[in-house]
Amino acid sequence: MSNNVKIGIVGLGRIGKNHARNLARRVRGGELIAGASPVAAEREWAQTELGIQKLYHTMEELLADKEIDAVWLATPTSFHADQIVAALEAGKHVFCEKPLALTLEECERVMKAAEKQPKATIMIGFMRRYDPAYAEAKRLLDNGSLGTLFRLHCASLDAIDTNGFFVQFAPTSGGLFLDCSIHDIDVALWMTNGAKPVSVSATGIRGMYPGLAACNDVDNATATVLFENNILATFHASRTSHHGDETSLQLVGTESSLSLGVGGTPTSEVNVQKGNANHCDMVVDFFARFEQAFVAEAQAFIDAVKNGDTLRSRLVEACDATRIGVAMREALEQQKIVTFD
Ligand SMILES: NC(=O)c1ccc[n+]([C@@H]2O[C@H](COP(=O)([O-])OP(=O)(O)OC[C@H]3O[C@@H](n4cnc5c(N)ncnc54)[C@H](O)[C@@H]3O)[C@@H](O)[C@H]2O)c1
Repeated sequence: MSNNVKIGIVGLGRIGKNHARNLARRVRGGELIAGASPVAAEREWAQTELGIQKLYHTMEELLADKEIDAVWLATPTSFHADQIVAALEAGKHVFCEKPLALTLEECERVMKAAEKQPKATIMIGFMRRYDPAYAEAKRLLDNGSLGTLFRLHCASLDAIDTNGFFVQFAPTSGGLFLDCSIHDIDVALWMTNGAKPVSVSATGIRGMYPGLAACNDVDNATATVLFENNILATFHASRTSHHGDETSLQLVGTESSLSLGVGGTPTSEVNVQKGNANHCDMVVDFFARFEQAFVAEAQAFIDAVKNGDTLRSRLVEACDATRIGVAMREALEQQKIVTFD
């Protein structure tokens, strides 16, 4: 019997397939042995593409499988909290895609379930923490190169969507801030070592996708958060980037500043000049931009399970991220400044 961590994945859609490929082919000490999806084509994909034999229609069937040590949730956001609680109650370790939950009540339910399973490892999929560029920014901040941090600007811009995906995806996503900026909120909490938010204001528009009005979502929005210790952070999220995917960060301290990813990521170091223009192809989706980070994240989860590291402080930060995301949405919807207790 191998002592690999045996993993069952739930949800084999856009990101579920990406995780499943990594878990099946690119990690050490873990084994993808099962999957669950209500969609027949997705189960078939897992069998033919990855050779997974145990394929279930529902998460409940997968949770009943005693061979599975850890559950990997890549399901719609609106299911996350209930599914994490169910997986913990079934005695499994849990990885769940971001965000942890869409409301503070859901976060509290997850925290209570986690308290009852003190040995369970729980990780939320904030993979930017495993990206080399973000990790280098954190290293420079921590070694004092920037001096005292007082300003952050984060941007998460999705490439223009020509097939209407984001309009279909929006109703279960929690809206632009909780779906997209949640990564940047986690980055801000990471960079500031969990600074407490003081106040939030926000503005947003539907510039290109009027269909988002049906679920009161927007396609471009900016939020301003004042953190304790006089740290000012701005967060820009967009579904309409004409230059492909951009996930960028700018930090300003008393000694120096740094930036990463501004303007997007070129696919090559080479620029071609022709017809009075400079041609440079850009990375258009985050799977390519964060390929390495997704693999490192999967490896970190498996290592944490094997080492008995429950990652509880990260779970608390994931709750804080939802709290800030909810406040951004409230500030946007009600056009008011939201303050924190
Ligand atoms: N880390 C990132 O950068 C990143 C990127 C994209 C998506 N995500 C997150 O991943 C999650 C999934 O997003 P997606 O884009 O893959 O969505 P998707 O709609 O492509 O996939 C959802 C999957 O869940 C399955 N599913 C639906 N209902 C289910 C149920 N009741 N039980 C089990 N499976 C069910 C669907 O069949 C599908 O396989 C979301 O929470 C999203 O926020 C994270």
